Amino acid sequence: MNDEPMSQGGPPSGPENWVDVGAVAELSRQSVQAISVGKTRLALTCRDGEFGVISGACNHVGGPLAEGRLEGDYVVCPWHYWKFHRTGGQGEPGFEADAVPAHRVKVESGRVLVESSAHTKRSRKPHAPHPLARTPQREPGPVRVLGISTTAMTADQPRYSTSDDLLEHAVRHAATLGAEARSIRLRELNFRACEGFYSKSARACTWPCSITQMDPSDQLDRVYEGVVHWADVILVGTPIRWGAPSSLYFKMVERMNCIQNQETIANRQLMRNKVAGFIIMGGQDNIQAVAGQLLGFFAEIGCQFPTFPYIAHSRGWSAEDMENNTRYVRGSKFLHEGAAALVERSVEMAKLLVAGTLVEGVVPRGGRKAHELDTHAQLHTKETAESQ
Ligand code: FES
Repeated sequence: MNDEPMSQGGPPSGPENWVDVGAVAELSRQSVQAISVGKTRLALTCRDGEFGVISGACNHVGGPLAEGRLEGDYVVCPWHYWKFHRTGGQGEPGFEADAVPAHRVKVESGRVLVESSAHTKRSRKPHAPHPLARTPQREPGPVRVLGISTTAMTADQPRYSTSDDLLEHAVRHAATLGAEARSIRLRELNFRACEGFYSKSARACTWPCSITQMDPSDQLDRVYEGVVHWADVILVGTPIRWGAPSSLYFKMVERMNCIQNQETIANRQLMRNKVAGFIIMGGQDNIQAVAGQLLGFFAEIGCQFPTFPYIAHSRGWSAEDMENNTRYVRGSKFLHEGAAALVERSVEMAKLLVAGTLVEGVVPRGGRKAHELDTHAQLHTKETAESQ
């Protein structure tokens, strides 16, 4: 560990540069807290009675270091866990060049004084951009169809799945239409659940996904690569579970919040001229509610839909005979023809979009999602009311 000596008692650069930020007794109660020196927000730490002060803004995407926690002599950013030495500002071992500004601090007569100017500069270690971060650009070639199975099952105990059967049939049929076709089975990917970065701050939810950037073993990058950079047609197959899409579907779309969030925080539409279609199969009812969820989500990330964008089948509420249901679906000519027709409609729609590039340029936010909140007014409503 690169322990820099504490700056307490360091040579002052002039009495006017030292700012009294509070009483030692008060400020030593918390290990990390926010202080302001002029208009600058800083992170003040206290460990074993010794103070340290570094910038309040993380090098990564500006996370609030003063809301982080102390791990040894390092402040851990609350957004994505980058670490900075609490007195020197340098990054954790191996990333020392990724440093935030540090300020000298001293104690006099029971008061904590912080030098107003930083004595070290912010520096950034160059980080190669993640491959997913490239600008989405459709490469020339035939229409590309990506089937995504959200059906769960044990890897070495395969079973017949009605949704997988029809999805695979549709993907195979796409190849006969001259399209390139691929499938992803979510159950074969090792990927983490969304950890709620968006709940900390919209800006903490990054593109590429924060988990994808920090965890190379996470395999949802294959879905991101497929839906954002490769596919023209996305076909999602899901069973109905308790009247809803499968748990793997929700695990995937929670992680896809980062795609939608780019529209909100960066006015950046990652998915253009893409078509989504759905295959919904269940032993229970609620097809239209499941379809509503799928349509709503894929509309939010910028997809278009063919005429009649889903096919579905349900055995109904009364028939608890799923062994008959699987037998029926496996042999159903109509359902297989329906899956083929869905992919045909989707491919035709994609050809129109690819040839015509329906959406060019920046799509204005308003009307697509809620207008940006006038946060200043929202936040200051009370203050304004009080001052009147
Ligand atoms: S780790 Fe600090 S903003 Fe990402």
